[in-house]
Amino acid sequence: MSLALIVLAAGKGTRMASDLPKVLHSIAGAPMLVHALRAGAALEPERICVVTGHGAEAVEGAAAEYDPAITAVRQETQLGTAHAVAQARSALAGHGGDAIVLYGDTPFITPETLRRMIDARSNADLVVLGFEAADPGRYGRLVMAGEALERIVEFKDASDEERSINFCNSGVISAESATLFDLIDAVGNDNAAGEYYLTDIIGIARARGLTATAICCDEAETLGVNSRAELAAAEALFQDRARRTAFEDGVTLSAPGSVYFAYDTVIGRDALIEQNVVFGPGVTVESGARIRAFSHLEGCHVSRGAIVGPYARLRPGAELAEDVRVGNFVEIKNAVLDTGAKVNHLSYVGDADLGAKCNVGAGTVTCNYDGARKHRTAIGAGAFIGSGTMLVAPVDVGAEAMIASGSVITQDVPEGALALGRAHQVNKSGLGKKLMDMFRSIKSQKTEEAV
Ligand code: UD1
Ligand code: MG
Repeated sequence: MSLALIVLAAGKGTRMASDLPKVLHSIAGAPMLVHALRAGAALEPERICVVTGHGAEAVEGAAAEYDPAITAVRQETQLGTAHAVAQARSALAGHGGDAIVLYGDTPFITPETLRRMIDARSNADLVVLGFEAADPGRYGRLVMAGEALERIVEFKDASDEERSINFCNSGVISAESATLFDLIDAVGNDNAAGEYYLTDIIGIARARGLTATAICCDEAETLGVNSRAELAAAEALFQDRARRTAFEDGVTLSAPGSVYFAYDTVIGRDALIEQNVVFGPGVTVESGARIRAFSHLEGCHVSRGAIVGPYARLRPGAELAEDVRVGNFVEIKNAVLDTGAKVNHLSYVGDADLGAKCNVGAGTVTCNYDGARKHRTAIGAGAFIGSGTMLVAPVDVGAEAMIASGSVITQDVPEGALALGRAHQVNKSGLGKKLMDMFRSIKSQKTEEAV
């Protein structure tokens, strides 16, 4: 069955007190909007339509970055959720299948829940996602008659009796596209808020002899974000879930509360993640790798058997093959480290290719930036780079070559060669002590004058 997603993201989010549109605030390294889109994308929709309004350009940019095939439609004034969905009509013209309406500020709906909604559609024309609210507050209430959903009443319009219902509307709704737009045509705004309520389509559908039902999900899934405090709570919830998922996947976390995941972190079975490790977006860590304490990783891949850290930083484009070692105070960026390569201490490796089993000594720097352009460094398999070497890129060091420590390497080093790129050392007999005695005597004279 062909599916269309309609994601509402036009609202202002006043309570965020922000210049950034609400749906672009991030949880675990991705805008809330992207979380909602990812949940929907798991259903392989044929079309995705995002309704934008406040901060439309920025929201449309984020949507296009996530998936260039997304259609954005503008809702110039926010007249209510039914009005928002109506804006998607032309974008979904001719769509024969079902539509699911999601909110851009509700990031935690799971694909499983959406699949249950699709299944429930075989028994009802409209399916609404509800939840049993611990505190139903101002949510819309679902008025049920057995399995059938009679109507949804907004808090502002509800009687006391209706307000005592705990089964609430998440906002997620699904129906055949054509039916959805038909029903929306009949929605008015004669209500307490003077808005076009999407929720009204249930009552209208029932009056027309159509059927509706609600399925229930965990309240945590429907959590919406309206303020900075709720954003922080959503982040914490995400992290809790990610840690539990890691355990279920067979990952050891030495101190789970101190490890922070991104929305897309992938970690293999029997990997070990020590204390205070932070994952930015785009990280995969293979089975059996070890990420030691206080390391920061983003946009990188760590293969089986590799050991990273403590105190390592892997930046985008860092590709570590099996059994690589990246030690303390080492930064790797846009660099490929082949099997068994070692960079163990205090080094910067950027825009580089390191061959298998090469050894990069402490304090080595690939000088990749000339102030305007970036250049690459290549180090061949089995090469040995002495401590304190400056590799001024672009430069190639051949396989099995050796570089004397303290060298500044500005020319390619042939395979197997020894490169010495430093000034000759000169020793002057007795002069060290003589100079030191002189300096000390000057210093003590000055101290006496000061007294
Ligand atoms: C809505 C539901 C309510 C439900 C609650 C769940 C209606 C009438 N009410 O209420 O039953 O319990 O969500 O959180 O649907 N939006 C637009 N354009 C608009 C209005 C809203 O794009 O003109 C977007 C908002 O950005 C937001 C979503 O739709 O993402 C929901 O809007 P919001 O104003 O938060 O609706 P609620 O009053 O919370
Ligand atoms: Mg709301």
